[in-house]
Amino acid sequence: MWYVRFCCGIAIVGLSASLPAADDKVRSPKEIMASTHSFKGLLKQAENGVKADEPKWEDLQKVATQYAKETEEFSKTKNPVAGKEDLWKELTLKLAKSGKEAEAAAKKKDAAALKKLTADIRGEQCARCHDTFRVK
Ligand code: HEC
Repeated sequence: MWYVRFCCGIAIVGLSASLPAADDKVRSPKEIMASTHSFKGLLKQAENGVKADEPKWEDLQKVATQYAKETEEFSKTKNPVAGKEDLWKELTLKLAKSGKEAEAAAKKKDAAALKKLTADIRGEQCARCHDTFRVK
């Protein structure tokens, strides 16, 4: 009978190997983190832009809209740590919500609100999520 199990093992391996290709279009958490939160990422661009005496709101609005889009995308990536589904949902949705609020603040040209939002994200959310989920 061993050959039956052998044969099915191959079939299962073959199936799971073909799965990742199906969601290749969704970027990985690492890629999204790099474009949103790296040294020159969107959040940094927003922080720098809003510091100016006369912020260039048109540019800031583009940055904030893109940030909202990508943090929303991040909330759709898979939880990387088994057993922590609820916390992953909570923290990624919180980040996406802040992204949306940053977009709204930029649209209203509300510098104080945008500063507060970016400070809250950087001050609290990064470390809180990385503590559990940045496992590599
Ligand atoms: C809701 C969760 C979450 C939040 C909030 C979060 N991160 Fe991350 N971050 C991750 C995870 C998960 C990884 C690991 C991705 C991987 O390597 O697969 C990561 C990786 C990174 C990386 C490495 C990217 C790379 O190219 O390897 C940087 C830089 C980073 N985060 C910066 C930040 C900063 C700065 C903030 C806050 C402004 C932040 N992150 C907020 C989850 C989060």
